[in-house]
Amino acid sequence: MTLTMKDRIMKAMYEAQGQPVSGQQLADLLGVSRTAIWKHMQALQQEGYVFDTVKKKGYVLKATPNGLHANDIYFYLATAQFGRTLHILDVVDSTQTIAKELARQQAPNGTVVIAEHQTAGKGRMARPWESLKGKGIWMTVIVRPDIPPQMAPQFTLITAVAVAHAMQATEGVCTKCQPKIKWPNDILMNGKKCTGILTEMQAEADQVNALMIGIGINANHERTDFSDELQHIATSLAIEEGIPINRSALIAQILYYLERYTDLYVKKGFKPIRKMWEELSCTIGQTVEVTTLREVFVGVASGITDDGVLQVTLPTGEVRPIYAGDVKILN
Ligand code: BTN
Repeated sequence: MTLTMKDRIMKAMYEAQGQPVSGQQLADLLGVSRTAIWKHMQALQQEGYVFDTVKKKGYVLKATPNGLHANDIYFYLATAQFGRTLHILDVVDSTQTIAKELARQQAPNGTVVIAEHQTAGKGRMARPWESLKGKGIWMTVIVRPDIPPQMAPQFTLITAVAVAHAMQATEGVCTKCQPKIKWPNDILMNGKKCTGILTEMQAEADQVNALMIGIGINANHERTDFSDELQHIATSLAIEEGIPINRSALIAQILYYLERYTDLYVKKGFKPIRKMWEELSCTIGQTVEVTTLREVFVGVASGITDDGVLQVTLPTGEVRPIYAGDVKILN
């Protein structure tokens, strides 16, 4: 990614970590005049960045605008590959569509597409996914694991664990309540859905070429951003916390955990992921209503297999494996 002059100034400001950076230092670093730096600082302030000017010392970064910017994410990013190629777009139909095209053009492992707004966001089972402008995290990560296609659904569970742990690790996100995973891919806060995950793939008969892992997080929605109908079942991280959350920091943490657990999975298989998934699950041990393409039935969710398949024990004692479907927890 080519950095603009403004990006390079912001990179220097972030790297200073709250210490002042003088106009002269920036001018020397970027090979331009102090007047040019001053003009860029004015433009950045117009965009919503806030700087204190400390006499004889320079500029101190105090606040960033609400929109997502690559450098804000890079500032928090601690990955080797994931997020190192980053496409931040304003409006798209779906980040899944853009990611599929990039994957076809051989985009590297860990490429990320993020949009401020999706006009045709996609959910599981061909459902629409509402993606309000500027409020959520609407992103797709292209992952290229060396696995056969039948193992791809496990990535939905790996991602759910990565997102839940990222939420717990991000400052100001889980101070009031903890994320729980509802099989296979919903993350709930206080029993309401705040995150959905959709995994799509490009594959040969025996080999995955690319997974497009779509993550949708209701981050900074207010209660009134949801319809009356949705208010009972959906929430946002900001609603649960009572204050807006830092989307850039959370995105960087998600990429960190997703990269880490992808490596773990490739080296050690699904078993260690399964253990973490079960610890975060609110499904296991509950009476559930299962809806698959063929039937609806009630049973007790008794566990997941080492392949990530949900096991539901029926009143007859028969244990039924669920590969795909919807699960409703009955109280
Ligand atoms: C679900 O049904 O729970 C899955 C929702 C997945 C939504 C995300 S938002 C980013 C990516 N782009 C899409 O169109 N869908 C996924």
